[in-house]
Amino acid sequence: MLKSTLTSLSLGTLLAAGLMTAQENKTADPVTAGKEVFEQCSGCHNADSDEKKMGPGLKGLYAKAKMKNGKKPTDESVKGIITQGGGGMPAYEDMLSKDELGNLMAYLKTL
Ligand code: HEC
Repeated sequence: MLKSTLTSLSLGTLLAAGLMTAQENKTADPVTAGKEVFEQCSGCHNADSDEKKMGPGLKGLYAKAKMKNGKKPTDESVKGIITQGGGGMPAYEDMLSKDELGNLMAYLKTL
């Protein structure tokens, strides 16, 4: 009796630990983290439409044939715009860590 109580107790602890890990993984998800990074972009960019704010709306960014600068949206060209800026878009090279930029890119791909 005691033994089975102990067993179910430790099983419960394991389950709880497993759930906590799952939750940590959720907040570490690059898309979710990237969405938070995007908060500093949302003053100038819509994420849920392609309607222009200060800058072009970014919904369907990767589906566009060309961006404003005439380049096809690829990881490299999009990253270039974000880090170097231009045409009213601030350069974020010194403002975002490598991780933040990576997460941001993951988020932009979902738009
Ligand atoms: C002060 C306003 C402003 C902020 C803040 C800003 N942008 Fe921009 N962004 C612009 C403008 C204006 C353009 C258009 C540049 C052009 O015409 O070449 C642009 C262009 C872009 C483009 C190219 C879109 C296209 O279709 O040509 C991307 C991608 C982009 N921004 C992403 C971001 C991201 C990601 C952030 C946040 C890290 C951000 N921007 C923050 C103003 C801003």
